[in-house]
Amino acid sequence: MGNRIPDEIVEQVQKSADIVEVIGEYVQLRKQGRNYFGLCPFHGENTPSFSVSGEKQIFHCFGCGAGGNVFSFLRQIEGYSFSEAVTHLADKYHIDMPDHVTAVSSYSSGNSDEQKMAEAHELLKKFYHHLLVNTKEGQKALDYLLERGISMEEIERFEIGCALDSWDFITKFLERRGFEAGLMEKAGLIIRRENGDGYFDRFRNRIMFPIHDHHGTTVAFSGRTFTGEHPKYMNSPETPIFRKSKLLYHFHQARLHIRKEERAVLFEGFADVISAVGSGVKEAIATMGTALTEEHAKVIRRNVGEVILCYDSDQAGYEATLKAADMLQKRGCTVKVAMIPDGLDPDDYIKKFGGEKFKQDVIGSSVTIMTFKMHYFRKGKNLSDEGDRLAYINDVLKEVSQLSGPLEQEIYIKQLANEFSLSLDSLKEQLSVFEKESAGRKRDSGRNELQERRTSVPRPPRKKTGLRPAHENAERLLIAHMIRDRDVIRKVLDRVGFEFNLDQHRAIAAYLYAMYEEGADISIQQLFKRIDDQELGQLLTDILMLQINDELSETELSDYVKKVLNYRNWSMIKEKEAARTEAERQKDFIKAATLAQEIIKLNRSLK
Ligand code: UTP
Ligand code: MN
Repeated sequence: MGNRIPDEIVEQVQKSADIVEVIGEYVQLRKQGRNYFGLCPFHGENTPSFSVSGEKQIFHCFGCGAGGNVFSFLRQIEGYSFSEAVTHLADKYHIDMPDHVTAVSSYSSGNSDEQKMAEAHELLKKFYHHLLVNTKEGQKALDYLLERGISMEEIERFEIGCALDSWDFITKFLERRGFEAGLMEKAGLIIRRENGDGYFDRFRNRIMFPIHDHHGTTVAFSGRTFTGEHPKYMNSPETPIFRKSKLLYHFHQARLHIRKEERAVLFEGFADVISAVGSGVKEAIATMGTALTEEHAKVIRRNVGEVILCYDSDQAGYEATLKAADMLQKRGCTVKVAMIPDGLDPDDYIKKFGGEKFKQDVIGSSVTIMTFKMHYFRKGKNLSDEGDRLAYINDVLKEVSQLSGPLEQEIYIKQLANEFSLSLDSLKEQLSVFEKESAGRKRDSGRNELQERRTSVPRPPRKKTGLRPAHENAERLLIAHMIRDRDVIRKVLDRVGFEFNLDQHRAIAAYLYAMYEEGADISIQQLFKRIDDQELGQLLTDILMLQINDELSETELSDYVKKVLNYRNWSMIKEKEAARTEAERQKDFIKAATLAQEIIKLNRSLK
């Protein structure tokens, strides 16, 4: 890209964009006083230390120090360049961009290879869709879909298409449109022949489901056979634009609904998502043929606090549910399970019983993980048989012993006691046996776990919650007041000048002095525009979140100035004292005397 966006446009975008709204698409925000708070998307946390100020149009995390304005936010969360962030917002707020600035896609950050790959996908998606809905060659595929109960509306909404029964139709199609074959191979669309002689189509004679990344760019396909070939689904391979461990199917469409409903419903198969959305469960997402990863969990947690797992009702689905639940709970999500009757998957269920019943009896009746496990333990057991009954009770008690809250434990123990007419005491006694056992196991594995945690959890970059020294606070307060009132800049320039003790404070002050001298407008946003340094920007937001009075009295001002200058002098005194001691030790009395004199002078200057 590289085309500079005119300042007026940047300014216009800045004025139209509302940081609360923009960040609200990524983070659940709650208003508290003047600011909004939420869980920081840049580091894992369970208590909200991420704040957004609508007034100042900045965000700041007290936990990890991340901060900036609306552009910095998009740069950090989406990996956009500055102009991409501006273009993205211009698009969102309907501000016309000059023609020479290329439209943004997530792959326009100067990496034209990735952009070309995305372009090819976008083009093929439309082409496949056309083949399915408009051509005689697509008729069989279309019949299969309709037969399966996928409506035309769903075909349109999910932009489903089909690939023809041909070895080189797409290879030629892409070639004719100037897409370089080597690159298209990297994009996973064509495959190099083993004899090295040319390429052939990866997807042949399949129903084509486009896969979008979280910005809505088409980055991959999954092709389902409708003629019984193997594999059932053929997916694009991992490519620079298709990362299976990060991507969640339908996420770009679901995000809004996830926020609105304050929950996400996670499926194993994307066919399930398509059916669920058709039944009105629009907050539906799925992994792409992989188990849920930490990265998926992170994306989910960033957007919502509650997840309903709706996996297939088979052994694999059961195990995957427990793993996913564990991962999501560790990130701080509340997890529930929507249970499907034996042997069905969500899509089957919907086709069999209808969307209404699915919404009510499956999604609407989702249960806690513990209840889900209890159902599972029951399977294949005859509870009127004493042996089975005992096995079941023990299974449940073992699980209950893993629960952390005594209240939670109590609930399930009471439930068992009622159900099997057992005394609470005997159940509790048995429970404590299991608790001791598992405590022993934990002790043995504790060290490994700790080590693992150390390496796997990234530490927040710069946690600074302790008390700051007085001179540092004084510098921060001076800067905060300088931004608010240009008169203060003049006063600080006169009295402190460049004598700030912290380099970063000095740098920010230098920007403010320059703006003052130029007669430029002084505002938070103007300052951000000049400071193109992430770390400095973060420090700035930290300062901007300080609560300051609207006025700076003369006493306050001179108090701060004194603290700043005194610290400088005081540390010089300390240095000189050390030098003097050293000079005396070396019997250089003349030098020692000079230093002593200087120390006296400095001491006098301490105000
Ligand atoms: P399922 O086998 O449960 O498919 O695989 P499904 O969702 O029920 O599909 P239909 O109803 O038979 O059409 C679940 C997910 O596993 C991946 C796909 O992502 C699928 O959505 N998968 C499955 C593959 O990648 N390859 C396969 O061959 C099968
Ligand atoms: Mn299915």
